[in-house]
Amino acid sequence: MNITYYGHSCFGIEVNGSHLLFDPFITGNDLAKHIDVNSVKADYILISHGHHDHIDDALLIAKRTGAKVVSSFEIINWLVGQGIANSHPMNVGGSWKFDFGSVKCVSAVHSSSLPDGSAAGSPMGFVIESSEGNFYFAGDTALTYDMKLIGDYNKIDFALLPIGDNFTMVVDSALIATEFIKCKKIIGMHYDTFGYIKINKTESVKKFEEAGAELILFEIGETKSSKELITKQ
Ligand code: NI
Ligand code: MN
Repeated sequence: MNITYYGHSCFGIEVNGSHLLFDPFITGNDLAKHIDVNSVKADYILISHGHHDHIDDALLIAKRTGAKVVSSFEIINWLVGQGIANSHPMNVGGSWKFDFGSVKCVSAVHSSSLPDGSAAGSPMGFVIESSEGNFYFAGDTALTYDMKLIGDYNKIDFALLPIGDNFTMVVDSALIATEFIKCKKIIGMHYDTFGYIKINKTESVKKFEEAGAELILFEIGETKSSKELITKQ
């Protein structure tokens, strides 16, 4: 698995040769101006909820790549109405086996509406299980006891958690989440993009270190192999 960060909560993760793109928001992100949205690879686009900072580039990338879009029933209906041909609607609690592995939709405590105000269903996170390893992409969420279910019934190798505060968990909550999900390798997301979610990165990484966990913060455009994430744990 290779993990590439495109800024905010947008990650490209290559699983068993398939390119999974999470929460595409690149062209509207001032911090990601150096990313060429037209070169972003996608075989699957997974969208956690309808807020613009998670969906803005979904249509553009889906139309160029023909990627299968995976999201809530409501978000898929909205995208299909705009010409998306390849899609798979899901909802919280459900899972599905794709060619790269399985996707389970888990709860996220947040809100969800589409950029034009349409209802977007429940926000969600995704647990991905594959022969190359398992990870949890939390989307936008508060710290929630439901995360214990993930830790109790899945073996998570690494997790992508929001740490920017104001709209989602703060870094201290993400640290508590590591106990719930029983995974200490955390990739931070949803920070620094807007004024409300600026964080002190050095302090945040240190907080994790002091608690015996690891907070990994990518540079925008950086790619890392998950091998180190998985074997070190
Ligand atoms: Ni949101
Ligand atoms: Mn957001």
